[in-house]
Amino acid sequence: MNVRILKNLVNGVWSEPSAAERMDIHNPSTGEVIADAPASSEEDVNLAVTAARRAFESGDWPLVKPHERGQMLLRVAEMIRENKESLARLETLDTGKPLSQGRADVEAAARYFEFYGGAADKIHGETIPIEPGVLDYTLREPVGVTAHIIPWNYPLQVASRSCAAALAAGNTVVMKPAEQTPLTAIELGMIIQQAGFVEGVVNIVLGEGHTAGAALASHYDINHMTFTGSVPTGTKVMKAAAENIVPVTLELGGKSPNIVFPDAPMDDAVEWVVKSIIQNAGQTCSAGSRLLVHADCKASFVEKVLDRMNHLSIGPGESDPDIGPILSEQQCRRIEDFMKKVEADGGKFLLGGTRAQVEEAPGGCYFKPTIIDGLNPESTVAREEVFGPVLSVFSFEDDEEAVKLANNTDYGLVTGIWTKDVSRAHKIAGRVKAGQIFINNYGAGGGIQMPFGGYRKSGFGREKGLEALRNYTQLKNIALKM
Ligand code: NAI
Ligand code: MG
Repeated sequence: MNVRILKNLVNGVWSEPSAAERMDIHNPSTGEVIADAPASSEEDVNLAVTAARRAFESGDWPLVKPHERGQMLLRVAEMIRENKESLARLETLDTGKPLSQGRADVEAAARYFEFYGGAADKIHGETIPIEPGVLDYTLREPVGVTAHIIPWNYPLQVASRSCAAALAAGNTVVMKPAEQTPLTAIELGMIIQQAGFVEGVVNIVLGEGHTAGAALASHYDINHMTFTGSVPTGTKVMKAAAENIVPVTLELGGKSPNIVFPDAPMDDAVEWVVKSIIQNAGQTCSAGSRLLVHADCKASFVEKVLDRMNHLSIGPGESDPDIGPILSEQQCRRIEDFMKKVEADGGKFLLGGTRAQVEEAPGGCYFKPTIIDGLNPESTVAREEVFGPVLSVFSFEDDEEAVKLANNTDYGLVTGIWTKDVSRAHKIAGRVKAGQIFINNYGAGGGIQMPFGGYRKSGFGREKGLEALRNYTQLKNIALKM
C-alpha cells in the first residue's frame, strides 16, 4: 500500500507546515497505515486564518456575484459526482465504513453543494415600514472567516454541509479535519480549487484536536465556529470561542430513541430500528441507540429485531458488509468500557456485547451487533452515547411513560415515532425534546433540506437546510431619513 503524503491547503497552495511533527493515518478495516499527515501547529493555523481573512476582505472573492458563487458551488457538486466512486472508496479506506455508505456520503456531499449553490443568490434582507420619509432595510451579510472542526465519522459529508453553506453566503473557510480521517477533505480541497475558488477562500489545516483544533477555536480573527464531535470537546471549543465573542454552532451527538407502538407499521419499524443503530457501525450522531417499545408488542418486536441483527455481516468496509470496523482501538475500548457496566446496571445481553473477530482483517477492531435489555434507565449505558452498534431496549405502558423515557437523557437530537395513530404521533412529537422527529421513518433519506441540530447537550444552532444560512450571515439594519 503506498502511503499518501498529505499537505495543508493555505492561501491556494498545498504547503508543508512549519511543524516537523507528523501523524500516521490508518485504514480502520485493516489497521494499515495509509497516509502521513502533518500535525500542524498554532502558527500553521494562524497562516490559514490570515489567508482566509485576506481573501474575505480584499481581492476577487468579495466581488464575486451571488449567482456566480452559486455556479461555483454547483460546479463542485458536479465534480464530486464525477469522482463519486473514487471518493467513496477513499472515504471507506479512511473511515472503514461499508462502501455503499461511503457512496451515500459522497452523494450527500454533492447535494449539499447543490442545495447551497442554488441558495447563494436567494440570501437577502427585507424592508421594514417605520414612518413616511424613512426607508429602513436589512442586509444579510456574510460573517467573515468561518472555522469548521470536522469529526471522523462522516468526514466528507460534514465538511460539505457546513463549508457549502458558509461559502454560499460569501464567507471564507478554515477547516480542520479530524486527525484520524483527513483524506477526503484533501480531495474536496482540490475539487474546490479546480472549481475556480479564489486562493485563500478555502483553507485546510491538518492536525490534532488539542493543538491545531484548539488553536483554531481560540483564534481571535475567526467570526464563526462550527463544531461536530463530543460534548467535552464541544465545551472546550465553546469556552475558547467565548474569549473572542465568536458564535458557535455545536452538533454533539445523541442517545436517540425509536418509540414503537403496537399499531406501528412493523416491517418498516424493524428495518429502521436496525438500520439506525448499525449505520456506520453505530458511530453516528443520530444513531437510534435506544428502542422504547410498548409492553404489548415488546416480545414479538424485539424477537424480530434480534433475528435481523443476528444475521448481519461484519467485515472490512471495502467488502461492503452490514457492519464495518470501529474507527480505532481507542474507540473500541471505549465501547468495551461501557459494556463492562451493563450487568451491574441490571442489563442483560440478548446479543453481542463483545468484539468480533474478522479473519481476513485481524488488524481492524470490530464489534458485534449488540442488544441489551433490562437496563436501569438511569444508568450510564442507558443515558450516554456509546458510539457502537449497541441497542438498548426499554418498554413502556403508556404515552406518558414513553415521553418520560424518551426525554431521560441529557441529549436531544433525533426521535423516531412508530404508530399509525396520527394524533398520538403528533402529541408525542410535540413533547419530545429533540431537534428532529421522524414519524414512521427515520432520517427521511438524509434530509439535506431539513434543519438539523440538538436540544440540550446535543448542542445548538441548526445545520442543513436554509436554516443553516443563519449561522453564516449577520443582519445589518440601515435606516435612511429621506
Ligand atoms: P472529539 O470531539 O474529541 O473530536 C472531534 C473533532 O474535534 C476532531 O476534529 C478533533 O480533532 C477536534 N478536537 C479535539 N479536541 C479539540 C480541542 N481541544 N479543541 C478543538 N478541537 C478539538 O471526539 P473524539 O475524541 O474523536 O470521539 C469521542 C466521542 O465523541 C465518540 O465516541 C462520540 O461519542 C463522540 N463523537 C460524536 C460525533 C458526532 O457525530 N456528534 C463525532 C465524533 C465523536
Ligand atoms: Mg477527543
